[in-house]
Amino acid sequence: MKFTESPVIQLTIANNKQLSLQQDNASLHVGTTVWPCSLVLSKFADRWAPPQPNPNASINPYTDLLNFRNKRAIELGAGCGAAGMAFYLLGLNDIVLTDIAPVMTALKHNLKRNKQVLKKTLKTSVLYWNNDDQIRSLNPPFDIVIATDVVYIEESVCQLVGAMEKLVSDDGVVLLGYQVRSPEADKLFWELCGEVFGIEKVPHGHLHLDYAYEETDVYILRKKKKIHCKS
Ligand SMILES: C[S@@+](CC[C@H](N)C(=O)[O-])C[C@H]1O[C@@H](n2cnc3c(N)ncnc32)[C@H](O)[C@@H]1O
Repeated sequence: MKFTESPVIQLTIANNKQLSLQQDNASLHVGTTVWPCSLVLSKFADRWAPPQPNPNASINPYTDLLNFRNKRAIELGAGCGAAGMAFYLLGLNDIVLTDIAPVMTALKHNLKRNKQVLKKTLKTSVLYWNNDDQIRSLNPPFDIVIATDVVYIEESVCQLVGAMEKLVSDDGVVLLGYQVRSPEADKLFWELCGEVFGIEKVPHGHLHLDYAYEETDVYILRKKKKIHCKS
């Protein structure tokens, strides 16, 4: 699925709350556009985040994953902030949305635009994936790292995987909305991820019915266990 050219994207989340995202597809920065992976990941979480409204849906494989009580989270490359705002409305109350400096205006504009439904101004921070000082200043580790549609430039893939590794706790998760944007970046990303993370692909049938596209996936990444040998 490609991004839509409409200047405003509506996202219904968490029992009919309406997020309204304003995008600018003409800007130099891809972060001022709302990318479909952000909607797909958000609506996947919306489908499964407890409590489930449907009493017949007794088997929820994502109850623990999407139980946000006492969890700290960070979003990387948040862009207009769709996923970060959606997860906040789903109960992920302690979340900081990050991106590069030139995207901050669009991000803050959208947070302000949705203040009535969010009922507060969410935290933001400038974070370049290769900037270790910025990473340290955010006080990792985080229980949850969210990232959607962030793999598209081969040169930044190593920085991205490095940032994910430094930011997520040993028993935390990276929730990734993913679509192949560059075959080279895609290959390198999964190679590097495989060294650091166990990789689980959410079955397409588990995505939200209205937000399931053949080319878009949700992945759950968990750090590989370190083996401690007795000396
Ligand atoms: C395709 S956009 C996706 C935006 C948003 N996550 C979405 O799905 O709508 C990729 C995002 O990654 C950010 N990004 C790219 N390279 C980055 C880097 N080296 N450090 C931090 N953010 C970066 C961009 O600024 C942009 O917001």
